[in-house]
Amino acid sequence: MTKKSTVEELRNQIERTLEGGGEARYKKQHEKGKLTARERIDVLLDPGTFVELDRFVTHRSTAFGLEKQRIPGDGVVTGYGKVDGRLIYLFSQDFTVFGGSLAEAHAQKICKIMDLAVRNGVPVVGLNDSGGARIQEGVVSLGGYADIFLRNTMASGVVPQISAILGPCAGGAVYSPAITDFTFMVRGVSYMFVTGPNVVKTVTHEEVTSEALGGADVHASVSGVAQFVHDTEVEGLMEIRNLLSFLPQNNVDSPPRRETSDPVDRRDEELQNIVPENPNIPYDMKGVIRRVVDSGELLEVHGAYAENIIVGFARLAGYPIGVIANQPAVLAGVLDIDASLKGARFIRFCDAFNIPLVTFEDVPGFLPGVDQEHNGIIKHGAKLLYAYCEATVPKLTVITRKAYGGAYDVMSSKHIRGDYNVGWPSAEIAVMGPKGAAQILHGRRIAAAENPEEMLAELEEEYREEFAHPYKAAERGYLDDVIEARDTRPRLISALESLVNKRQKNPPKKHGNIPL
Ligand code: HXC
Repeated sequence: MTKKSTVEELRNQIERTLEGGGEARYKKQHEKGKLTARERIDVLLDPGTFVELDRFVTHRSTAFGLEKQRIPGDGVVTGYGKVDGRLIYLFSQDFTVFGGSLAEAHAQKICKIMDLAVRNGVPVVGLNDSGGARIQEGVVSLGGYADIFLRNTMASGVVPQISAILGPCAGGAVYSPAITDFTFMVRGVSYMFVTGPNVVKTVTHEEVTSEALGGADVHASVSGVAQFVHDTEVEGLMEIRNLLSFLPQNNVDSPPRRETSDPVDRRDEELQNIVPENPNIPYDMKGVIRRVVDSGELLEVHGAYAENIIVGFARLAGYPIGVIANQPAVLAGVLDIDASLKGARFIRFCDAFNIPLVTFEDVPGFLPGVDQEHNGIIKHGAKLLYAYCEATVPKLTVITRKAYGGAYDVMSSKHIRGDYNVGWPSAEIAVMGPKGAAQILHGRRIAAAENPEEMLAELEEEYREEFAHPYKAAERGYLDDVIEARDTRPRLISALESLVNKRQKNPPKKHGNIPL
């Protein structure tokens, strides 16, 4: 063979690897409203940066006539490329090849890029579109999944891991995305379940569609399995790029600081009156956050789930921050099981990846009720507390209004190593709300009064004057200061800058025992 023909041979071989499952199957993929594995990579990465690995890998199986169907790449495209000039490793399953099903060689390719990502300290993005374990390869496929699960677990807290579900994801296959840090889904395209509608019907006699059982909206708002949901694949892939812009490459890297045109000393007069005088009237905490952070930009995580707590990424003076905020506009901002889980997972992610935490607090306490107690608000609320306690990243807290009871302690209080804790003049820091306190302390007096309601109102007012303000806490140093609301942005930025070199370590241990 001459040199020329060798090059031609290479080009032909590469051409073959691009054929995937063939024209007809690509067409089918498009007809379903889905992009192909390589089109997705083109959307996700900076143009011309993709470097493919293992394009010639094929399976070695001979069962069920598989030896006659060796397709280069084995149903998954793997490699590395750049997002905004920063490296990521990725895999993109090709549904046109054996339904994107996972078997030995396919799994080995994914494991290879995961190992490289951990070794080189680079995020991993997985684009999932697969019929699950390749039925013809049997237990070898199951082994391949387990190899990936182990790597997901080892990589957790070392490099960011992001999963996009862009097709089916069923059976044990769901557990890889579930271990990763963020899961993206697309309406009408993706679904995830441990057992599909047919099995559900056989076992529980429930009739349910794939979308209603495990579609994007279900997982974004009911189960909490997906953190992001979009109408199109392109929107989802662009949002992955946006998410990566807040994240460091790994756990010993710093999050990327970005230029901002928003002045660091910007005061916001609107904040002065944003909290209603009547403590029972709600307001939108997202409005507060947007008035404080750079250019009003908040990337909400889990936006449709447990909306009584807000978590997401933003920037202050260009530094990425993780925002956790009670939302008085939903259930008065109370902490329930779902809000505790949502907050705890987000806090642990930020702490693992050196992203400072900024907490906006207006919380009446934990949600009372038989349902909450029986479902374990004690252990789930403890997760939020534990996550805040163990976090060693800079922790800044602004109490805008209520900070009642145990929730005061939990929400990044001074006592659990808050670095900079301030209250607005409207802050109320107390064991409970004035009405409840008056009823408990003076129940008999109120009952015996000529006009019980008047008496209750009087005693409530007395308690409010005594406790429903920030100064008792400030007297003890539980608040570092009481600040005018309009000064929040400049104060947080100066505190954040003072904490840039913060060094804090927890005692050495194998790992803690977070109440699961
Ligand atoms: C091998 C598979 C496959 C699989 C799909 N295909 N799933 N091949 N192993 N698991 C192939 C089909 O034979 C078909 O090949 C092509 O992929 C496209 O499949 P269609 O059925 O035509 O596509 P569609 O109608 O869109 O339906 C998609 C589907 C369905 C819902 C995913 O294919 C399906 O139900 N597949 C089986 C799913 C499953 O039971 N997987 C095992 C789950 S258990 P041709 O040649 O016709 O194009 C599991 C355990 C993991 O995954 C455990 C981890 C611990």
